[in-house]
Amino acid sequence: MKLADYKATIAFSNGAPSFEMPVYNGSIGPDVIDIRKLYGQTGLFTYDPGFLSTASCESAITYIDGDKGELLYRGYPIEQLATNCDFMETCHLLLKGELPNTKQKADFSHLVTNHTMVNEQMHFFLRGFRRDAHPMAVMTGLVGALSAFYHDSTDINNPEHREIAAIRLIAKMPTLVSMAYKYSIGQPFMYPRNDLSYAGNFLRMMFGNPCEDYVVNPVLERALDRIFILHADHEQNASTSTVRLCGSSGTNPFAAIAAGVACLWGPAHGGANEACLNMLEQLQAQGGVAKVGEFMDQVKDKNSGVKLMGFGHRVYKNYDPRATLMQETCNEVLKELGLENDPLFKLAKAVEKIALEDDYFVQRKLYPNVDFYSGIVQRAIGIPVNMFTGIFALARTVGWIAQLNEMIADPEYKIGRPRQLFTGSPRRDVKDINKR
Ligand code: SDX
Repeated sequence: MKLADYKATIAFSNGAPSFEMPVYNGSIGPDVIDIRKLYGQTGLFTYDPGFLSTASCESAITYIDGDKGELLYRGYPIEQLATNCDFMETCHLLLKGELPNTKQKADFSHLVTNHTMVNEQMHFFLRGFRRDAHPMAVMTGLVGALSAFYHDSTDINNPEHREIAAIRLIAKMPTLVSMAYKYSIGQPFMYPRNDLSYAGNFLRMMFGNPCEDYVVNPVLERALDRIFILHADHEQNASTSTVRLCGSSGTNPFAAIAAGVACLWGPAHGGANEACLNMLEQLQAQGGVAKVGEFMDQVKDKNSGVKLMGFGHRVYKNYDPRATLMQETCNEVLKELGLENDPLFKLAKAVEKIALEDDYFVQRKLYPNVDFYSGIVQRAIGIPVNMFTGIFALARTVGWIAQLNEMIADPEYKIGRPRQLFTGSPRRDVKDINKR
């Protein structure tokens, strides 16, 4: 962090002495006021539930300019990464800070490929779940259970442990996600294949079966690889902040990532793609485009509790660049599968057009986010709706680990322990039950 050439002063109208605080510059983006000494010097806390104006950490991994609709992974624009790189290169970039050269990419991919199997005992964990359990419930359990097997990579303070745990998690997530899917449809688990790409291997583990060879469709393989790139990291979103807070206690990386999986499940976060597709299917069943106006009235009615899923974002107050790229991928996949006239895609584009011309959305700067189109392309690939968030978790695992490792490697990091504004009952004594 670079000390700014100005300071912040907090003054009080009640005559209390003013208090000066240092300001730090980032390389890009807003400066920060260092309030770490505020409580010690003034006895006051700051108050920012939801962290609307609070930086929880210093990071060099991902930067978002919400007004411009810009997303950079280690400085590279997402549009260039999604076009010129693949997910393995993106993982190397997020974890190590640089895009790999040819040899580095081959070595990294080889390492990941050779850690894709899970301990056979993991198969027994699934048998404890109902077949109709939500895949995210299964994933939360399976990822946490990894810490039961890898005692040689659970010391988060050991850089070598962090390195191998990162590879293991990136490598095993596709295997675990596909196991959760196969379990839900009563089909046998498919073992990973070392001769396939990361995305190709996942497609085969999801849609292959032991009775016949599975041929990877290169268009779907590339589309899935791009979906992984688009979901790989996103600054200090809710699940990443969960992973950081969980990891700050020194717990093992598998437990911290399991906490991220659990947080991502929420419909306001990673569960939005599932909720968005369900919303579009429901709208389609009720009459499609003809019913959009009525639906929008519900969305704009505060009392309805209805939100336009896949729209809006805490940071983006412009188009989410990932939504643009996802729409392109949607076109490619639907064309490849002869689904150009997919009614749901047409409906989504109609909903987007109507929303972007409606004052309610314009005034609130609500645009499509990454989840608005991702469900349509995943559904076209054949991924069931309740698996969408599992795919999101698979892709986001590299971002979670990169952020966790960045925090642990910072000698200044402390266990996260926010304070509160207490508005409950002051001290009082317990009365005998006969007098209550
Ligand atoms: C992800 O943080 C990340 O980076 C997350 C993510 C990542 O990659 O990690 O980008 C992934 O989670 C994307 C977001 C997916 N969620 C959804 O699509 C669910 C629908 N969106 C909303 O729930 C909402 O937009 C949030 C949760 C995404 C953001 O909420 P904020 O920043 O807390 O904003 P807000 O709820 O205060 O909304 C501001 C106003 C409110 O209206 P007013 O009170 O000002 O009148 O906009 C309205 C909201 O009611 N609003 C919406 C809306 N989103 C916000 N109204 C209708 N539909 C919506 N989708």
